[in-house]
Amino acid sequence: MQLTNKRVLLTGACGGIGCELARQLAHKGANLILIGRDQHKLDKLLLQLPSSHQQTNLQHTSFIADLARSNGLNALGQQCQQWRDDGLTIDIVINNAGVNQFAFLAQRESQSIEQEIQLNLVAPILLSQKALCWLNRPGIILNIGSTFAAIGYPGYTTYCAGKAGLHRFSEALSRELEEAKIKVLYIAPRATETSLNDLRVSQMNSQLGNTTDTPSAVADAIVRSLEQEISARWIGWPEKVFARLNQLFPAVVSAAIRKQSAIISAFAHKTH
Ligand SMILES: NC(=O)c1ccc[n+]([C@@H]2O[C@H](COP(=O)([O-])OP(=O)(O)OC[C@H]3O[C@@H](n4cnc5c(N)ncnc54)[C@H](OP(=O)(O)O)[C@@H]3O)[C@@H](O)[C@H]2O)c1
Repeated sequence: MQLTNKRVLLTGACGGIGCELARQLAHKGANLILIGRDQHKLDKLLLQLPSSHQQTNLQHTSFIADLARSNGLNALGQQCQQWRDDGLTIDIVINNAGVNQFAFLAQRESQSIEQEIQLNLVAPILLSQKALCWLNRPGIILNIGSTFAAIGYPGYTTYCAGKAGLHRFSEALSRELEEAKIKVLYIAPRATETSLNDLRVSQMNSQLGNTTDTPSAVADAIVRSLEQEISARWIGWPEKVFARLNQLFPAVVSAAIRKQSAIISAFAHKTH
């Protein structure tokens, strides 16, 4: 899809990937609806964006919603319907908001597990369902997944579960909507330098020799996925290969991860 003058609703807009994605989309001439939980952060980001495309008199805007709560999701859905009724069309929805907590399952509180699944899986599903009422046709729903959707990794059990669910959801909805002029895309970044990863995770990645991308490189890949309407994409080698290998020969991947388990366990048990 050509992005100039398209209106994009972006969740997690004030996060590491979200901010960079907002900037790149605005430079392409897209109008943005930034979703976050902190009006101050949203206002700061709005000020940094190039103004909306010259040929339109539309402006970027923002909306506050806690997407892990049903009242936040419902309020956002109602606002989007209101915008639609007022003649303001939304062409693209990007489900980017996400959380994770690096810890073994035995260390986790059940409430934090529920919130993680709620934000990473339930919220994108419900927002996609709501978008069926107000998304312009042709339209795009793009879900931000993770390498960990394709590779179960120690310390990320519930994150892997949520993102794997999001991948299958994206695939199923894309097939369900084949005749509806709505494309459902999925893109899976690998480790990226944002505050999603605490210091322990950054140190662990560097000790394990895992490559980490910049938010700018990830945003660039997301923009290209939108422009080229790539249905599913994994960012980075060798993660891309490991993701495929894990489907065909999981024992090979288990053996590789086993060699890392002492380091993973040490960092999982390290206090912040
Ligand atoms: N960083 C990585 O290594 C990596 C790798 C693969 C995939 N990803 C995925 O990329 C996406 C963006 O992550 P990031 O790295 O940019 O993380 P980030 O910097 O931590 O940003 C996360 C964003 O999610 C929003 N968020 C958190 N809880 C929320 C809630 N309850 N309701 C609404 N919004 C909420 C945050 O909003 P506030 O500004 O209000 O806090 C923030 O904008 C996520 O889906 C993540 O799973 C990241």
